[in-house]
Amino acid sequence: TAPKPLAGKRIVVTSGPTHEPIDPVRYIANRSSGKQGHAIAAALARLGADVRLVSGPVAIPDPAGVSVTHVETARQMKAAVEGLLPADAAIFAAAVADWRAATEADEKMKKEGGKGPSSLPLTENPDILAGIGRHESLRPGLVIGFAAETERLVENGRAKLRRKGADYIVANDVSPDSGIGGTGVMGGDRNRITLLSPDGAEEWPEMSKDQVAERLAGLVAERLGRPFPA
Ligand code: PMT
Repeated sequence: TAPKPLAGKRIVVTSGPTHEPIDPVRYIANRSSGKQGHAIAAALARLGADVRLVSGPVAIPDPAGVSVTHVETARQMKAAVEGLLPADAAIFAAAVADWRAATEADEKMKKEGGKGPSSLPLTENPDILAGIGRHESLRPGLVIGFAAETERLVENGRAKLRRKGADYIVANDVSPDSGIGGTGVMGGDRNRITLLSPDGAEEWPEMSKDQVAERLAGLVAERLGRPFPA
């Protein structure tokens, strides 16, 4: 049988949300289900890649043929991703929380006695993609980020392409009125993306997340694939 186009290539993928603890029972999170990132990991594995998936807390199973590291927080995700480098490519589909609670309470915060917080001080999380996209030695040859936007998709996506040092940004509209049925892109089964690169913007029609993953895996194979010796 013919060798698979991504055989021998190590590819790191992030997927799902992160959970940022407030106290032992509460956390900050978002609606990411991991469906898009997991589908990408599975599609790359089907093309023969050695896929290392770093997943936040999700309710879906680990994809077949993929080695998975499970994490909760953005800081854990960053450490896990860095521990898997060097790699030939990295794809950042996770919806990493931009902010976490400035301090994590050791005990459950009480509302009795009016001692609960009237505000929750936040601090910024590290940007995993930007740290790697701009890293001098650890940057994989191909870096693909996502942009989840509710307005000015292309403009905001382009800014992320530059700022985070990615080769491509997969921009998707996560607003509830995006026209994607059901729960919308975050959490749902379908996506409509605009693929941004320094060369331009390519609008893909709405399709299933599995189909988006197939096409992206094809792009990765085109970029990384080398002809195999006979
Ligand atoms: O999980 P699903 O329900 O299938 O939904 C898929 C999705 C909508 C979550 C996915 O397609 C998507 O858009 N993922 C990125 C979500 C996001 O956090 O976007 P952002 O615009 O905030 O971040 C831009 C890029 O930087 C992303 O590649 C993100 O992974 C990365 N990032 C962001 C913040 C941070 N601290 N570290 C990061 O690496």
